[in-house]
Amino acid sequence: MCGIVGYVGYKDAESVLTVGLHKLEYRGYDSAGIAVLKDGKIHVRKKAGKIHELERYLVEKNLPKSNIGIAHTRWATHGGVNDTNAHPHLSQNGIFAVVHNGIIDNFSHLKGYLEKQNYHFKSDTDTEVIANLLEYHYLNDRNLTKAILKTVNELEGSFALAILFKEDDDLIIGIRKDSPLIVGLGENENLVASDQVAFLQHTKRAIFMDNGEITLVRRRMVEFMNFSGEPVKKTYVFLNHGDDEAEKGPYPHFMLKEIYEQPKVVMTNYKIYTRNEKPVLLRDLNLRKLLLNKTRIIIEAAGTSYHAGLVGKYLIETFANIPVEVDYSSEFSYRRLAADSRTLVIAISQSGETADTIEGLRNAKRYGLDVLAIVNRPESTIARESDYVIYINAGLEIGVASTKAYIGQVQVLTLLAMELGHIKGLIPDEEVIKMIASMKSLPEKIEKILLLNSHIEHIAEKIYTSDNVMFLGRGLNYPTALEGALKIKEVSYIHAIGYPAGEMKHGPLALVDERLPVVIINPKTSAYELTLSSAHEVRARNGRIISVINENDELMKEVSDYIIYIPEVEEFLTPITSIIPLQLLAYHTAVLRGCDPDKPRNLAKSVTVK
Ligand code: M6R
Repeated sequence: MCGIVGYVGYKDAESVLTVGLHKLEYRGYDSAGIAVLKDGKIHVRKKAGKIHELERYLVEKNLPKSNIGIAHTRWATHGGVNDTNAHPHLSQNGIFAVVHNGIIDNFSHLKGYLEKQNYHFKSDTDTEVIANLLEYHYLNDRNLTKAILKTVNELEGSFALAILFKEDDDLIIGIRKDSPLIVGLGENENLVASDQVAFLQHTKRAIFMDNGEITLVRRRMVEFMNFSGEPVKKTYVFLNHGDDEAEKGPYPHFMLKEIYEQPKVVMTNYKIYTRNEKPVLLRDLNLRKLLLNKTRIIIEAAGTSYHAGLVGKYLIETFANIPVEVDYSSEFSYRRLAADSRTLVIAISQSGETADTIEGLRNAKRYGLDVLAIVNRPESTIARESDYVIYINAGLEIGVASTKAYIGQVQVLTLLAMELGHIKGLIPDEEVIKMIASMKSLPEKIEKILLLNSHIEHIAEKIYTSDNVMFLGRGLNYPTALEGALKIKEVSYIHAIGYPAGEMKHGPLALVDERLPVVIINPKTSAYELTLSSAHEVRARNGRIISVINENDELMKEVSDYIIYIPEVEEFLTPITSIIPLQLLAYHTAVLRGCDPDKPRNLAKSVTVK
């Protein structure tokens, strides 16, 4: 979604900010803009479209050289995609320039009030209201702190803001409420951004702001206060992201790079979460005790994380015999919960910033339920607001289509299910040791699947002109079918449905003809025979079958047009091995169709609006 970056220091602000904007591109956006402060005047340039449109415009209409500025990538919510609605927004008298992530819920009320005070609005955005409100309060008694505090307390909704004030060329005001904002601490320079990728090349020292905090960022000093104006003490953390994490390296796209990073993710989690061939995810004794007391689990998540949750349900129910429901966060957060204190809510999220999932966890808290988060980003809102957190250690995921984070989520849920089953006495020691040994060999098996890249590219050549693709899987690989369909939809814009193989004959079978590619995920599992029957049903209707199966599977081979052979693993690990070819299939299909898999149209990396 939207991205913010601000810089105050000694370097050329325009170039720091445009590089920062490029780093934020992956989050999804439809316009971009930049403002710098020079000689007591704020200069703004903004353009609908991609950042290179803005860069072209900056060549035509130079900005003055300056060492302070703010910039933004906008993902439209209030008002269409055009130059005027792009951020930064100047206040009526040019005193403040504001960039904003989030939504101001009471903006029409505030706008009405300001219009009565002779404020005229140029854009249709909620953000311009913030700029004018701040200016209105400031002009009242020329007290900046008072004006900021009044403004933030009148705004309802979610907002991360970076603000330039024309009367101070050593100040960026940063404000956070329900939308992330991070301060990057440099030497004689400081930065503010909605995502640390925007400033990693300048500094790795960062302060994560909490909700309800304001920061005054200067070249040599950074201060914090709360929305009542009381000073807040903050400590910095050192970001241990590798320099190359936010770079594509030799890969043409982040999506491909991240698919190839999956063996590493699995190995990292194996190392972190196992000891002496046993899972040790529940080292925290309080968490262990808590889990053992729970008789029901509700998983809430969105998109790919929801699919990981479905795998988690199968495994937790099978290994630990605890009933699990999986709900879309957007549904879970707005319904009445029939749950008691023996219910645990698990919130799964790569970014930890998905608005629906945050709302879901807050809803759970309103009911007094304990929340365990499974997230990738340690500093995220979900990680901070949950009672317990388990990290998936996937590293920065830049591609909008989640790949390596899914693998991390599924692996962590697998370990959690296994450990719960083990400590409940449902899985004997020797069985757990065997299972962990199988997990240890997983990275090697994934490497083997990655060697199929060109073969999968050839299969993509057979389907990339199709209008529809169907994905079928059963049992543990029903979520794989859903995830395979989501991947291809997101990056190649081909309509795709994922279905439980056994359910297909109750309706979707009517779609099957010789033009429909049907991807059947059927590695050797307890669902094998039944999925084979579904494959025959598709074959009998002349559907074109692409199968994801184990080597030497003659029965599936007979009904398949194209085959992707994956190495055999124990059933509980098949959701990990069988999704990888589907990620590659989606990737190549997108590239063949001329789509950018890293930045699919209309989508954002983390969906921070409800
Ligand atoms: O950051 P989260 O895991 O909470 O994000 C949830 C979904 O928005 C996300 O998985 C989305 O579906 C991805 N684009 C999937 O590739």
